[in-house]
Amino acid sequence: MSSHYLHLMSPAEIGGMKLRNRIVLAAMGSNYASEEGHCTEQLKAYYEARAKGGTGLVVLETSAACWPNGSTMPNTVGFSKDEFLPGLQDLAERVHSHGAKIAAQLNHGGKMAQEDTAAGRPLFVPSLMEKASSDMFNVLTPDEVGNFIKAAGPDGKGPQYHVMTIDDIKAMVADFAAASRRAKTAGFDAIEIHAGHGYLLATFLSPAYNKRTDQYGGSRENRARFLCEIITAIHSACGEDFPILVRLDAKEYRIEGGIELDDCVETARLCERAGASAIDVSAYGNVAHSIAFTEAPLVHEPAGFVPFAKAVKQAVSIPVIGVGRIAPDVGERCIAAGDFDFLAMGRKLLADPELPNKLAAGEAQTIRPCIYCYVCVSKIFINQPMCCAVNHNTGREHEGDIIARSSTSEKFLVVGGGPGGMEAARLLALKGHQVSLWEREKDLGGTARIAALAYKPNEHLVKYLSKAVKALPIKLQLGKSATVDMLLAEAPDHIILATGAKREAPAIVGKDQRHVFDGDELRGLLMGGNPQAVAKLSLFSRLMLKAGQFSQILRHISLSRFLSKFWLPLADEIVVIGGGLVGLELAEYLVERRRKITVLEPGPSLGAELSIVRRARVIHQLRAHGATLHSNASIVSIENEKVVYQRDEETHEAHGKQVIIAMGAEPETTMANSLSCDSRIKASVHSIGDGRSVGYIEGAILDARNLVQNLDSQ
Ligand SMILES: Cc1cc2nc3c(=O)[nH]c(=O)nc-3n(C[C@H](O)[C@H](O)[C@H](O)COP(=O)(O)O)c2cc1C
Ligand code: SF4
Repeated sequence: MSSHYLHLMSPAEIGGMKLRNRIVLAAMGSNYASEEGHCTEQLKAYYEARAKGGTGLVVLETSAACWPNGSTMPNTVGFSKDEFLPGLQDLAERVHSHGAKIAAQLNHGGKMAQEDTAAGRPLFVPSLMEKASSDMFNVLTPDEVGNFIKAAGPDGKGPQYHVMTIDDIKAMVADFAAASRRAKTAGFDAIEIHAGHGYLLATFLSPAYNKRTDQYGGSRENRARFLCEIITAIHSACGEDFPILVRLDAKEYRIEGGIELDDCVETARLCERAGASAIDVSAYGNVAHSIAFTEAPLVHEPAGFVPFAKAVKQAVSIPVIGVGRIAPDVGERCIAAGDFDFLAMGRKLLADPELPNKLAAGEAQTIRPCIYCYVCVSKIFINQPMCCAVNHNTGREHEGDIIARSSTSEKFLVVGGGPGGMEAARLLALKGHQVSLWEREKDLGGTARIAALAYKPNEHLVKYLSKAVKALPIKLQLGKSATVDMLLAEAPDHIILATGAKREAPAIVGKDQRHVFDGDELRGLLMGGNPQAVAKLSLFSRLMLKAGQFSQILRHISLSRFLSKFWLPLADEIVVIGGGLVGLELAEYLVERRRKITVLEPGPSLGAELSIVRRARVIHQLRAHGATLHSNASIVSIENEKVVYQRDEETHEAHGKQVIIAMGAEPETTMANSLSCDSRIKASVHSIGDGRSVGYIEGAILDARNLVQNLDSQ
């Protein structure tokens, strides 16, 4: 076992449930269940993979204690009927077969039970609610709006609310107890009551939503009464020795008069008194504000909730679970310091289910990193099955092991060392093929290196993939630009073209001026190596860049990112034409470097290629930093120190000393076209990633996986 993670890897107990280590898979709604609430093969295989990966405790996603009532997703696991038992039993057995334990997260969505609205049922609430407007819709693309929360209901009138009566509360306490009993019968080891994230029990706990004047409203004790009655009822139904975890919010962000840390601490004490076995300390952000979701529960700030867990830990004697973008080494230190007892991880275990095993084996450097792109949760927002941008095996475990060794070893040549090329090379080498990887630059990473300059988590992925490629028997050649003759000489069985996108500026009047840069020129400026772009700069900037190139600084992503905070070869006022993924991430990078930015997007949506949640965050951050963002801005011309554009049939000007055209990305198909009409090429040729269709990191990694899987079935 690694000596670095002795605390994290040490066995421990929650309410008598013995766990092999302190790592908990945080509950994550997946939409993998069937529409009828049953566990599907997809869902079981997904959880089994996390158990196999070494997690101590698997917490099942938000599940409906009163299914279909209170469901928050179209495909919510049900615990309300015995017909769910066989699937739940199989799931529990499969998790157990790998040495992990499993807890069912029982929930009722309350005001957030979108499936109740969709079915025309009223939403259960503690007291009357005002219908809140949401700024989330402002960041959605027209396509997404229809898919987003089914807010209107079958009659198109929006959600209807039902204030729970005492009888309703009693009935629901009984439903939670019956659901827990079913979980125990199915072989589950524990229950986690979901009393956070704006769902029904959280609305009772929240002073902002609970305005009742009976024994379930008012004081903290009264607001926690419903929850405590559920704890008591579960104990009566399942026995005192059946562990009950409770997930609480330590804070409700952007909710006036919402839950604060003191409330949470007191509720935790009350839960302990009622018989809870552990407290899982999360937080909630009002989803009516598009930025809030990345404050909580999907906290963007690393270890952002640790102080909350620490405060709860000081108030109770039962174990406390910390969660919220906590890296294993931080978790290790927190457990050692007594800040909390167990570390729950969500996204990191989507990106790499083998994380616990790798920590235990001392192979932390081989963990596939989460890049905090929010693709996973954005799928849930639009009622799609969850996936992971960097690990397209997540949710596809049931399709079988795609890296099982191939019976025949073939010769593959991968051209292009961006994420797609590296992932394809990695998978093919793991399958036992002979793989060569050619990259024309001196470093692996492709465009993801630029993305890594703008967004640090991307750098971790570039490093992970580069290391993985270098650790495998892959013939890697850097600084090698492929030609047809070279491919002929190599004579592989398969050629995989992962040559990325080209970024030529579209025909805009004035684009050829000295103060205007297209995407490829900008890349050259930031990473070195584009003489045409460098020639447009002042003598001083040219000298600085030369020095950067000469000293190899520009090859160093973190160092370049750091130094660029002090100097960049770009003016202080810039207009970015194109508000897609590249334009917005570039604007984010420049704004952080104190540039005054205007983004002009000709289309109707900003950041359409970004996941909804990340898009919401970037747009919010840009505006908060003073950037001006316009969609539907039809560009007329680029002139000296300004861009002329039309919007709402009026002509406007955006001022900037330089203009960057961050649009016009198209698949680079030159090599693919040459090969397709050359009869001397005997190899099968496949294009993946941006070279096939511009899909950025997520698309490139997905393409690589699909290619390798499809080759198997040929
Ligand atoms: C795709 C996704 C779905 C989630 N669904 C749930 C859920 O069903 N129940 C819940 O309590 N939290 C849910 N969460 C929040 C996680 O449990 C966790 O608290 C959060 O992701 C922060 O932890 P992390 O930074 O380790 O991902 C979800 C998170 C993600 C990414
Ligand atoms: S989709 Fe993105 S945020 Fe979600 S787990 Fe994967 S890498 Fe992390």
